[in-house]
Formats: sequence, structure tokens, C-alpha cells
Amino acid sequence: MARIFSGIQPTGIAHLGNYLGAIQNWVALQEGNEGIYCLVDLHALTVWVEPEALRQQTRVNAALLVACGIDPARSILFHQSAVHAHARLAWIFNCVARFGWLNRMTQFKDKAGKDREAVSTGLFVYPNLMAADILAYHATEVPVGEDQSQHLELANDIAQKFNHDYGVEFFPAITPRIIGGSARIMSLRDGTRKMSKSDTSDQSRINLTDDADAIAQKIRRARTDPEPLPERPAQLDSRPEARNLVGIYAALAGITAEEVLRQHAGSGFGPFKERLTELAVQKLTPIGAETKRLAADPAEIDRMLQAGAARAAAIAEPIVAEAERLVGLLPAR
Ligand code: TYM
Repeated sequence: MARIFSGIQPTGIAHLGNYLGAIQNWVALQEGNEGIYCLVDLHALTVWVEPEALRQQTRVNAALLVACGIDPARSILFHQSAVHAHARLAWIFNCVARFGWLNRMTQFKDKAGKDREAVSTGLFVYPNLMAADILAYHATEVPVGEDQSQHLELANDIAQKFNHDYGVEFFPAITPRIIGGSARIMSLRDGTRKMSKSDTSDQSRINLTDDADAIAQKIRRARTDPEPLPERPAQLDSRPEARNLVGIYAALAGITAEEVLRQHAGSGFGPFKERLTELAVQKLTPIGAETKRLAADPAEIDRMLQAGAARAAAIAEPIVAEAERLVGLLPAR
């Protein structure tokens, strides 16, 4: 039995990439492990977000996680800002992590773009807060999509440097749990970019709350090429859009890309997209409907998140209090 921690930013609505790359794995890992799942609202503040929209989206994404199969009675589901231990440990990590380490983070480079002078300092120290999220629980397994692997390496570097600087074996090593085939779901409009909440085109992603018509339309319009489906996955290497749709099909059906091609080799994308639509609608529309039902009672969602936060704090408080003691801070009480 391992302690699992993972998080999702509650900006926008979780999409198919989040689901296949991370959430599906969170649900599976609940079995036999201690799952701690967090709506990282403090991380969401690193770029401007309208306050009321953040509150509302935090609730909707909480409902979505439950609709996807996170069981709030078994796992701990909560919003990050409700457990103050995260921010306290993040400050200590701001003082452990080196400027040069953060400067090498590719996600920061991508998000900051050319105008680095104008981005928030929160965006720069974002990975330190992420390390604090995990290490405040001494969690050892972190299910994420591939885009988070550099951040997890940094979290391990921070843990090691903390242990070294203070002469302790306090923070454990973290193992990323990245699922092969669906660790990187790409945009439906451009097979070289990952599917992302921040893409300006809603056509680029399938949101988990999209209805059957929206799913069908997005898959129909998804970019492809004129060639039929080949016989082997290796033949998709130079066809990023085709490879992405085959990967999505495989992940939704719970089969390998080889198996998808065995079933569909020689087919054009017209009929393949129809099959893919049927599969996506069958898998995703019950999640959308259940989310809607749960989101209709925001007071109940708040109660659920607060109960989760109390359980999370009971684990994180003593660990972070000990980290504070180790670095030389006087006890708060
Ligand atoms: P976020 O909110 O961007 O994404 C949540 C999870 O979804 C995965 N993901 C994808 N997987 C496959 N294909 C995609 N196109 C795709 N897009 C997103 C992400 O890898 C992630 O697992 N920094 C994190 C949130 C975070 C966190 C943490 C995660 C904060 N603290 C501690 C783990 C542990 C993030 O922005 O995820």
C-alpha cells in the first residue's frame, strides 16, 4: 500500500488529456492504496483568473473527479488552499530550490513565452509549490501525464537537497507513475501540441462535460491526413494527428495501438472517426451527466471538499511542522 498524491488545476474544465493521462490512473490506484487528490487552486493563481470563475470551476472540477470515479469516502479529495501546510512548505522549498533549477523548467519557458519580465513570480516558483504538495504528505507515488515529469524530477532534487542540507532522511523519493500510451494526448487541431485547457480553440480538446453532439463535431473536424490507417504503430511515426486519434481510441477502449490497427488497418478516417465518436460518447457522456447532477448542489461539494481538507490536514500538519522545526523555526503553538 503506497500513499499516492496528485493534483489538477481547477482552471477551465478537465479534458480528455487529463482523463486519459492522469484521472483514469488516479481512479485505478485508489484500489489498495491511500489516494490523496487535490484541486490545486493556489497553482491556478499563477496566471490571472477571474475570482468567481475560479470558485465555480473548482467546484465543477471537484464534481467531475467524483463523476470519473474518485470516491471521496475512500480517497481524500480537497482544494489546496484549504490546507495551509502546502503554502508553508512551499516557502521553505523556495529557499531550498536553486534559481538555476527553476530557470531550466521547460513548462515555465513555454508559459512565460518571450515576455518573461511580465509574468508572475508565482509562475516561476510553481514547481516548488508542487513539490510541497507531494512532500507535505510524504507521498511516494505520483500519477501524472508526461508533461509533469520534469517537475517531479525537480521535486526529488528539492527533497534530496533538503535532506542533505539539514542532515536528515526526512523526505522520501517520489516515483512518477506515467501510463505509457496516453501520457501525452495531443490537440485535435495540431498533432504536435498537447491537448491543453489553455489552448484558445475549444475545438482542440474534448472537455469531459461536452455533450454527444459536441464530441461528435470535434472528432469529425479533428485534423487528419488522407492516408488510410496502416498496419503497425511504427508507420504512424510521421503522422502525428493520425497517431493521436489511434492513441485516443486505444486508451478509451482499453486496448493497445497494435490491437486498434489490427481491427482498423486499411480503413479511412471517415469510418474510423465514427467508431471513435461512438466510443468517446459511450465513455464520456455518463461522466458529463453525473458531473451536472453533482454540480447542481454546490453546498454539498463544499462540504465534501472541506471534509477532505480536514483529513488532508491531519496528515500534512505534523509533517510540515517537523520540517519547520528541522530548519530552525520555533513552534507555532
Ligand atoms: P494539469 O492541471 O495541467 O493537468 C492535470 C493532469 O493531467 C495531465 N495532463 C495530460 N495528460 C496527457 N495528455 C495531455 N494532453 C495532458 N494534459 C494534462 C497532467 O500531466 C496532470 O497529471 N502541475 C500540475 C498540477 C499539480 C500536481 C501537483 C500534479 C500541482 N501539484 C502535485 C501532481 C502532483 C498541473 O498543472 O496539472
